[in-house]
Amino acid sequence: MMQTPASTTAEADADLYLPRPATVRSRTVLTATEMLFELAMDDGKPLGHMPGQFVEVSLPGIGEAPISVSSSPDGRDRFELVVRRAGRVTAAMHDCRMGERVGIRGPFGTHFPVDGVLRGRDVVFIAGGLGLAPLRSAIQYVLNHRKDYGRVTVLYGIKSPVERMFLDELDDWSRRPDMTFMETVDRADATWKGNVGVITRLIPAAEIDPKRSIVVACGPPIMYKFVIVSLYSIDVANEDIYVSLERRMKCGIGKCGHCQIGGLYACLEGPVFHYPVLLGVEEAI
Ligand SMILES: Cc1cc2nc3c(=O)[nH]c(=O)nc-3n(C[C@H](O)[C@H](O)[C@H](O)COP(=O)(O)OP(=O)(O)OC[C@H]3O[C@@H](n4cnc5c(N)ncnc54)[C@H](O)[C@@H]3O)c2cc1C
Ligand code: FES
Repeated sequence: MMQTPASTTAEADADLYLPRPATVRSRTVLTATEMLFELAMDDGKPLGHMPGQFVEVSLPGIGEAPISVSSSPDGRDRFELVVRRAGRVTAAMHDCRMGERVGIRGPFGTHFPVDGVLRGRDVVFIAGGLGLAPLRSAIQYVLNHRKDYGRVTVLYGIKSPVERMFLDELDDWSRRPDMTFMETVDRADATWKGNVGVITRLIPAAEIDPKRSIVVACGPPIMYKFVIVSLYSIDVANEDIYVSLERRMKCGIGKCGHCQIGGLYACLEGPVFHYPVLLGVEEAI
């Protein structure tokens, strides 16, 4: 059997550990707590991600945080990240201006199977809150390759109207004749004229064909419990469900164990999981 030369393995390992410089090309306020960053790698190469993967973003002297890539790969040399201000690293990122540098490791993890089992099937995206950030990458990819898929449905649920992100894109999706877009808020305000209630209320109304559809969901853990029950009620099979799970991550490359769910490493075997893999795994969902 051919052995991998030690130097090659060491170089590959160094690639995983060493942040590569990237420059902030633009920043856009999305909500009171979320900022959209467009970045480009300083070596001029595309990031090389697939929808659903994440990167480790580092700021020297402050720290590192895993953030999902929010834009579609499709031949672009720039990529986008949605960053919610949560603590030290994410607050420091919000302070990054155009032209400033950050470190990027990755892309890491598994991806939504946009280039695999989703092809030819109806695709139902279910996004809860910040879950729209990684799903947007897959939605953009599917819309860019529209003829490769059957019916496309996007269901989006958030707590209140002020948390809606990507308003122009939501507007575009709601007008497109080749897809269905439905959204709901848990609590309306005076401006809101749309659906009110939790995201599961959209599922029966979306006219999903359980035999033709694959469901791809991303949202807070509590959302999955109810979404899965609701999908069962319309006869969607476990085999036709993919979910993205976030766990505390440090290294992002299977070394530290921080991200373990049962015996699974969320950074390597996830964050995107085929739902049957999670059945019986304690605390997965
Ligand atoms: C695979 C993956 C993808 C992610 N994608 C995104 C993304 O696209 N956009 C985004 O804004 N965030 C994303 N996150 C969450 C993000 O990594 C955390 O918010 C960030 O690491 C917090 O770091 P901090 O130093 O700013 O906060 P800290 O000072 O470390 O913590 C501040 C607060 O955030 C909470 N927190 C820390 N880590 C997490 C976590 N992993 N999940 C939930 N709460 C956490 C802490 O409990 C604490 O309350 C993702 C996480 C994972 C694992
Ligand atoms: S984040 Fe370190 S093992 Fe997964």
